[in-house]
This record gives sequence, C-alpha cells and structure tokens, in this order.
Amino acid sequence: MEFFDVISTRRSVRGYKDAPVEEEKIVKCLETARLAPSWKNGQCWNLIVVRDKEKIKAMAHPIVNPWLPQAPCVIVACADPKKSGERDGRQYYLVDTGIAMEHLVLAAAAQGLGTCWIGIYDEAKIKEMLQIPEEMRVVALTPLGYPDEENNLRVRITKGLIEKFSPRRKLEETAFFEKFGKTK
Ligand SMILES: Cc1cc2nc3c(=O)[nH]c(=O)nc-3n(C[C@H](O)[C@H](O)[C@H](O)COP(=O)(O)O)c2cc1C
Repeated sequence: MEFFDVISTRRSVRGYKDAPVEEEKIVKCLETARLAPSWKNGQCWNLIVVRDKEKIKAMAHPIVNPWLPQAPCVIVACADPKKSGERDGRQYYLVDTGIAMEHLVLAAAAQGLGTCWIGIYDEAKIKEMLQIPEEMRVVALTPLGYPDEENNLRVRITKGLIEKFSPRRKLEETAFFEKFGKTK
C-alpha cells in the first residue's frame, strides 16, 4: 500500500478475526520498529510478542478493552528509562518507544493488519506474567491481527458515543507558520 494511504486508512481496530498472523508479517512489524530513531540512539525498548490466549486474556481490562482476547497476538512494548535519557524533564523513553510503536502500527496497517494502542493495563501484572525486568516500564500494548469489521464496527459505534469516530482537529488548528497561532 502506498505510504499516505497507509497513514490515512489506519485506525484503531477493536474487533479481530479468529485467525493467526503469519510469522513473516509479525517479523516485518518488529523489524520496522527496530529501525526507529531514538534519543542518542539509545534504542531503549523491547517488544514482546504474546500469542498465548490465557496471557492475552489476562492483559484485557474487563471494562475498557474486553474485546482484547479476540486478538491472536498482542505486542507489549517495554522500555528501560535509563537506556534512554531525560532533558529538561522530558522523559525520552516514552518518546522513543512511542515512535517505535508507531513504526510497528504503520507496518501492520500496510500489511492489512489491525492494531490499537492500549494505554490502560495492569503494569505489575504484565511485568510478572512476562518476566519483564524490574527496572523496565511497560509503555504500551497493541493487539495485532486481522480486523473483524463487524465486531470492530460494533465497538466503534458504542465507543463512538464518546469519541464520535475519532474526528481530527483541522489542519489550521494543529499547524502554524512562523509563530504560534499564525495560520497561513
Ligand atoms: C497513548 C494512547 C493510548 C491509548 N489507549 C487506548 C486504550 O486503552 N483503549 C483503546 O481502546 N484505545 C486506546 N487508544 C486509541 C485512541 O483512542 C485512538 O487512537 C483515537 O481515538 C484515534 O482513533 P484512531 O486510532 O482510530 O484514528 C490509545 C491511543 C494512544 C495514542
């Protein structure tokens, strides 16, 4: 798929088919994350591919993302803050890992796979379950799988009461020229 089509068609997928993801597609996603830029090239993140159904079930929040166990695979992104850095109070491990995850998310979309950034989870539980070292933080999770459009639509309609299908701010509200607030 053409790059700008990948960007414009990607959306958070909250319904998945009961079908495994091909190993080579997973590796391609991981490979694009590996190539992401990072603060001082610290590459502070690790991505864990979880395909064990019981573990995926345990990661789901019963209210916020009860649909998560539909996914055949979940990628857990963790990072060691000390392997990245901080400047003027900016914790770069979050930025570094966020960029790596977005590489992965776009690589997934380009291969016809769905993802959904998950920010609500039990960090201690996930760390213990996946034996993530103490000094590391869990930064994000995403399911990875083939979208089930019917289930996805159902969740989007329910969630749509809140997020109205994720509209975006207008370009002139988000981007300025020469100084803050100056539109073209
Ligand atoms: C940092 C972050 C955390 C998020 N956490 C969740 C989450 O816990 N559950 C969820 O369903 N979606 C989550 N999302 C997805 C957003 O709701 C979604 O990206 C936004 O509504 C825009 O919709 P779109 O991704 O379909 O374009 C998260 C997204 C980001 C970037």
